[in-house]
Amino acid sequence: MNVTNICCIGAGYVGGPTMAVIALKCPQIKVTVVDVNQQRIDAWNSADLDQLPIYEPGLKEVVEEARGRNLFFSTNVDKAIDEAQMIFMAVNTPTKSYGEGKGFAADLTFVEKCARQIAEVSNTDKIVIEKSTLPVRTAEKIKEVLSSNTKGVNFEVLSNPEFLAEGTAIQDLFKSDRVLVGGDNTESGNAAVAALVSIYSNWIPQEKILTTNVWSSELSKLASNAMLAQRISSINSLSALCEETGADIEEVSKAIGMDSRIGSKFLKASVGFGGSCFQKDILNLVYLCRHYGLDEVAEYWYQVIKINNYQKNRFAKKIITGLNGTVNQKKVTLLGWAFKKDTNDSRESAAIYVADILLEEGAELHIYDPMVKATRIHQDLTTLWEARNESKDEIAYKLKRCIVHQNHTTALDSSFAAAIVTEWDEFKSYDWNTIADNMMQPAKVFDGRNIVKDTEEYKFKLKKVGSSNVKNSSNERKEKAI
Ligand code: NAD
Ligand code: UDX
Repeated sequence: MNVTNICCIGAGYVGGPTMAVIALKCPQIKVTVVDVNQQRIDAWNSADLDQLPIYEPGLKEVVEEARGRNLFFSTNVDKAIDEAQMIFMAVNTPTKSYGEGKGFAADLTFVEKCARQIAEVSNTDKIVIEKSTLPVRTAEKIKEVLSSNTKGVNFEVLSNPEFLAEGTAIQDLFKSDRVLVGGDNTESGNAAVAALVSIYSNWIPQEKILTTNVWSSELSKLASNAMLAQRISSINSLSALCEETGADIEEVSKAIGMDSRIGSKFLKASVGFGGSCFQKDILNLVYLCRHYGLDEVAEYWYQVIKINNYQKNRFAKKIITGLNGTVNQKKVTLLGWAFKKDTNDSRESAAIYVADILLEEGAELHIYDPMVKATRIHQDLTTLWEARNESKDEIAYKLKRCIVHQNHTTALDSSFAAAIVTEWDEFKSYDWNTIADNMMQPAKVFDGRNIVKDTEEYKFKLKKVGSSNVKNSSNERKEKAI
């Protein structure tokens, strides 16, 4: 099949960048990204490329080249579905917040709505592609919904999970480690797989395009995220042991990672992982395992989440302990809010949970993030507190003690402590001794990302993740800094 018209439902962190890159690399294909969110579509169509709804390095250059040529953003979902030969579903699949599977299962409401709309609107044969991350065997449910079409349309359902990471999305899409396409081993299934493979072949080398059955493809996505998150929880669990024993997690991580069987990536100890994917996808995996009666397997993966929660709590408690056991009425500064650097996304960011604990303890919280807006920060906290059924008054009182700054200087001025929660490059370049001069004495820096160098004489106390306070000869150098 010669594909000339693609539609993507969902103009979010995946739909937007993914389709922008397909449009860039395949100028012969018209790509329309649709969404029910008018504001989001307006932002994608904004003349000022700094107003795109997502911040990703390199994204605005791609949009600038393709938009209006063969890349379009629209709220006219029906029209885009009708015209397309291939439809990507890149809608959100959050953790269910109600009913059966609450707190674990993926909420498939949006996916099902898309499928229903495709079934209703389609007049010609379509290839429907799962781009969202979904539980194994979701394709079966999608096929059932699509079969409600009354116009004799043939639908092929493929799984093509997305592996991009935020902050590096464009590079990840340009040079993917692999592209995974799952399809049915039937004549029409194989033809659909070939059609999708031919699109990626415009820029991805053939040997990096992997074709599998649908269930393997769906599960591989959940498994990849689980394995990545597991490495972070493993290293974070060891960081706690390092802090007790005099070992240093940076040194341990390096030593472990030099084993080529293990590899060095994703072994960076931190305040805990965040983002919209890891927690949601592991909870989904846990739910699936329980569903199939695999309780031991479910418990194994659930531990990854438990350690991550433990790490976020541990970090917040270190700040409180480090400030003589109380932060009540003390100015404490959070540097960073995004769940990682180079993104404006703060979904499930560790910062939210650290802030929550500090505010509960009475801190006056001052926050600076180079990309995340004050409205987003307040909304993140409000959402958390509303989910806990806190009263409007309580929420308003806490928000008043949560001040967002446009620069780090005012955020840190007269503060008792700085807590680094996101590894933004600009934090690495600060003159920390000058900052410390303007803080309350003795100034304290809690580095949740281990980005402040610990080789110089500091005028402040530095506490890193996985670095010990135990006095022994091998720690002498570090003790001078602490
Ligand atoms: P998102 O929330 O940023 O975007 C989803 C968009 O879908 C929203 O703008 C929403 O308005 C729109 N939408 C929902 N239902 C719709 C409907 N019926 N019609 C039209 N539009 C609709 O989500 P995201 O981060 O892009 O994630 C999408 C999927 O991709 C999820 O399943 C996620 O797990 C997966 N994923 C995300 C990432 C990531 O880095 N964010 C990476 C890989 C995979
Ligand atoms: C992740 C997967 O990497 C990606 O393949 C998938 O498509 C979506 O989920 P993302 O969540 O965007 O991507 O970012 P990622 O780089 O994986 O970071 C997730 C979290 O883990 C961040 O909070 C990050 O700071 C943290 N992290 C990452 C660590 O704490 N230590 C590490 O060594 C690596």
